Amino acid sequence: MNLFEVYPLYNVTPVSAKGIVVKDEKGQEYLDFYGGHAVISIGHSHPHYLRRIKEQLDKIGFYSNAVQNPLQSELAEKLGQLSGCGDYNLFLCNSGAEANENALKMASFQTGKSRVIAFKNGFHGRTSAAVAATDNEKINAPINKQQKVTILPLNDIESFKSEIQKGDVCGVIIEAIQGVGGLDEPSTKFYQEVAELCKKNNAILIADEVQSGFGRSGKFFGFQHHGIQPDIISIAKGMGNGFPVGGTLIHESIKATYGMLGTTFGGNHLACAATMAVLEVLEDEKLIKNAEKLGAYFRKKAVEIPQVKRVKGRGLMLGLEFDFEVAELRKKLIYDQHLFTGGAKDKRVLRILPALNITEKHLDIFFERLKQELK
Ligand SMILES: Cc1ncc(COP(=O)(O)O)c(C=O)c1O
Repeated sequence: MNLFEVYPLYNVTPVSAKGIVVKDEKGQEYLDFYGGHAVISIGHSHPHYLRRIKEQLDKIGFYSNAVQNPLQSELAEKLGQLSGCGDYNLFLCNSGAEANENALKMASFQTGKSRVIAFKNGFHGRTSAAVAATDNEKINAPINKQQKVTILPLNDIESFKSEIQKGDVCGVIIEAIQGVGGLDEPSTKFYQEVAELCKKNNAILIADEVQSGFGRSGKFFGFQHHGIQPDIISIAKGMGNGFPVGGTLIHESIKATYGMLGTTFGGNHLACAATMAVLEVLEDEKLIKNAEKLGAYFRKKAVEIPQVKRVKGRGLMLGLEFDFEVAELRKKLIYDQHLFTGGAKDKRVLRILPALNITEKHLDIFFERLKQELK
């Protein structure tokens, strides 16, 4: 059997990884400034993470959601405490798309309505409603186009107002920092007005924190830079540091009924152990503060490079905008400089999403090698 080829692959085969270093089968080391699409939050093979998962596996790796699993409540407690979102309830799933799919479904259950507002260049996943809310025609099949979604320009409050006032919108989904799109952000004024208009028009505000969450932006959640409170928050990626896990945080004003959401694998024992390990390391090693500090250091170094037109993002969710498309540069960075970086829908943006425990020394190496390629 062959693989169903949907990914254009770089010719690199990682076989081991530790911290920020990834090694291929020939022993070549690469520095990972991308974390496999913002997934590696506490570094590859963090010792506490390995210990937590191994210990859990020795006890029990999985049982379904038909029985008690106290690890889920422990995780919810810790997540509430570290994120400052104790007044939400947690539903665990397996990926970012699923987290958003559940969020959109809850918005519809709660309001009895079905139209969604999403934003230009947003990315929310590849499942039914999530992909329909994603601004990319190419990944929407005819079956997805049945969903009622209106995609509006980010930061254009007048167009938002005229759509939401029609009264048929169940949910508004928004990223605090657009990941796949290329690091554009809603302004604080826009985000706050959106939040207020959602309340006035009985629509659920969904903060898609799949990429910007778990400390990456320098605060636990990206929306916390803007002083708003969403009704629902979706999480995944950095949450499991590579273990597939996602979640939907649903404000306690929205009530659960049995069967309204469900999953076989979501919230399994191993996923809980992995996420607990991530939260413990974020707290013990003060990594959210580190993300903020290192983000500022990155910015300082980046503006010294004449080819960089703009530094985008916050904390360690960063983008360098050039006045040329970066695909070739990314190839050279990986093959010649042995650096993993990312691209974006905006082809001029080089995305930088390292583990939150990187150091200034790592960033110095990154900029030295980048400068060599830009010479
Ligand atoms: C903001 C955002 N939401 C949702 C997703 C989908 O997550 P997943 O690939 O885990 O389904 C992504 C993935 O890139 C994302 O960046």
